[in-house]
Amino acid sequence: MTASLSIRDLTVYYKTPLGLVQVLDGLTADFDQGETVAVVGESGSGKSTMGFAITRLLPPTGVVEGSILFEGQDLVSMPQKKLRDVRGTGIFMVMQDPFSSLNPVKKVGLQLLEAVQIRMERRGEHFDYESASKEVLKRLYDVKLPDPAIIMTKYPYQLSGGQIQRVVIAMGLLLEPKIIIADEPTSALDVSIQAQVIALLKELQQQYGMTLIFITHDLAVANVVSDKVLILYAGRLMEFGDKRDIIQKPMHPYTQGLLKSFPSGSYREKELYSLPGMPPSFFSLPVGCKFSDRCPYAFDRCFKEEPGILDVEGRTVRCFLYGGARKNRVA
Ligand SMILES: Nc1ncnc2c1ncn2[C@@H]1O[C@H](COP(=O)(O)OP(=O)(O)O)[C@@H](O)[C@H]1O
Ligand code: SF4
Ligand SMILES: [Mg+2]
Repeated sequence: MTASLSIRDLTVYYKTPLGLVQVLDGLTADFDQGETVAVVGESGSGKSTMGFAITRLLPPTGVVEGSILFEGQDLVSMPQKKLRDVRGTGIFMVMQDPFSSLNPVKKVGLQLLEAVQIRMERRGEHFDYESASKEVLKRLYDVKLPDPAIIMTKYPYQLSGGQIQRVVIAMGLLLEPKIIIADEPTSALDVSIQAQVIALLKELQQQYGMTLIFITHDLAVANVVSDKVLILYAGRLMEFGDKRDIIQKPMHPYTQGLLKSFPSGSYREKELYSLPGMPPSFFSLPVGCKFSDRCPYAFDRCFKEEPGILDVEGRTVRCFLYGGARKNRVA
């Protein structure tokens, strides 16, 4: 399978009044065409930063190093003008706050028609209002919105968060991107409709063969949507591999900790468990392994040296318990 996105040594800093703070460190990963990768980690682990770095939507204080190859072109060094051609029709991002994805002063129908127009213009095709309207209605129907013709006449503020997120997904479909990045797309929505929106995204991803990068803090949601799971902690890739392997036999102690809060049944029945302790501040990271102050298996070396990335049994893991000198190996 060909990689639809290749990230190499992706490092992101933010300029802050207290100086430069590094929040992603040497992230390297390949995302294959048509697969769903869940990016999982607690709040503050760098998930959104990764999404915004890929779409080049970081604030002006963000500084990016490394490379992000999409269709053979490096998005990191790509000029803004060219990036505009990639954004939307190449890579589309569904934001956490559904309302931030739409223009508040334009009717939903007009914004969706504009999406069709953008796609057609980029492909050198002729835009025809009537057939574009039919296409918009069909996509609103695909995302299971009742009364699509009425929805088209509404302003975003006249719709609920769940309806808006469906409109945003419809917009993504109209742009026909190769990759959709969904950043906690349901966390601002009512619990009762979260599962529906997740199921919808997954269904559409399969139908259209898109690559879906699904960002979530919840491993149970990752289990529902993904083919692969990438675990982030303190801006580092800690584990990356097939979902089944990771859920059934997590290697990294952080993944094991996250899995303790994994429910036995549906993710709505989640137990009230959370990992002891807090992720470290990016201003005062531990010297060695960034998980060392919370890790039940930490030993001397972990406090002095940071482990590198290793390929073990078909997955990637960053932990001294694997490969080379092992101690207290986790079963
Ligand atoms: N614009 C910014 N300026 C400075 N620090 C930021 C900025 N945006 C995010 N951060 C910091 O970067 C870290 C990672 O944030 P984020 O990528 O939003 O994590 P996540 O999405 O996993 O919750 C956090 O410590 C956050 O405070
Ligand atoms: S390197 Fe050490 S501290 Fe870090 S996760 Fe592995 S055992 Fe724990
Ligand atoms: Mg986030």
